Amino acid sequence: MVAETMLSPADLIWPLFICEGQGVEEPISTLPGVSRWSVDLIAGRAKEARELGIPCIALFPNTPHDLRTEDAREALNADNLICRAVKAAKDAAPEVGVLTDVALDPYTSHGHDGIVDEGGYVLNDTTSAILTDQALVQAEAGADIIAPSDMMDGRVGAIRAALEQGGHANVQIMAYAAKYASAFYGPFRDAVGSRGLLKGDKKTYQMDPANALEALREVALDLAEGADTVMVKPGLPYLDIVRRVKERFEVPVFAYQVSGEYAMLEAAAAAGAGEREALVLETLMSFKRAGCSGVLSYHAPLAARLLAGR
Ligand code: PBG
Repeated sequence: MVAETMLSPADLIWPLFICEGQGVEEPISTLPGVSRWSVDLIAGRAKEARELGIPCIALFPNTPHDLRTEDAREALNADNLICRAVKAAKDAAPEVGVLTDVALDPYTSHGHDGIVDEGGYVLNDTTSAILTDQALVQAEAGADIIAPSDMMDGRVGAIRAALEQGGHANVQIMAYAAKYASAFYGPFRDAVGSRGLLKGDKKTYQMDPANALEALREVALDLAEGADTVMVKPGLPYLDIVRRVKERFEVPVFAYQVSGEYAMLEAAAAAGAGEREALVLETLMSFKRAGCSGVLSYHAPLAARLLAGR
């Protein structure tokens, strides 16, 4: 009766990994319990989300390695893995929102989110132009929410303008506005197959974990450029940022409980250090308490089942 915060399946976004093939479910060793799914099996996941009351799924491709290039051109192929997966999900469960990631790391031969110069430095404006085309390709495929996770400056405005011009005025932008250069992304990079490829780190475009005021500036820019919602990432170690963004801007704020956080909870549960179900629900509730409208979590289907008493 006095609970100040509610957690429900409607607060969850379920990230899913896609691979080539037919009838393929590939486990990811550093993300125990999470798999890559071939496009034909995505329909089943979308329907599962609908049955569980999860309003949105987020799709990430593991692009075959022979299609990864310096210029990431596969990102612009209207028949690439992610576009086929979006169509399959929307055909199977049109009521379930589909969020797609705009960034080049699943498509580059060097694993960076953008185009690099000879010295390996990620080029902001060159990248931003390609991201804009990538967003359009994903919107054409049927994505409901475009989520730029690349951290280039100016890309939200460019994408918004292109969506308007391209007849996709109703496609939303969820900006990964405050995304930190974090050690918690390792299992994700395994899942999309970029870990072994990545040269150097992402510290020239992702944020320094020491900074909070910079996060507020990043959020302000993305909102001014037309972001509908903003995201803080990773999640648990950055709940102070969630709170500050919520209080300052009063817009819907999301957090990404990232792959390393999932792995940490699973490892704790497997080691008998805590009880999985309780750990999952307590951490998800803490996102809501901090001010999140919703959370991207690999535990989304488990949490939704628990919350429904199933
Ligand atoms: C890349 C991207 C990353 C994640 C989402 N999009 C990793 C990175 O920046 O290297 C991480 C998500 C996770 O760890 O679960 N554009």
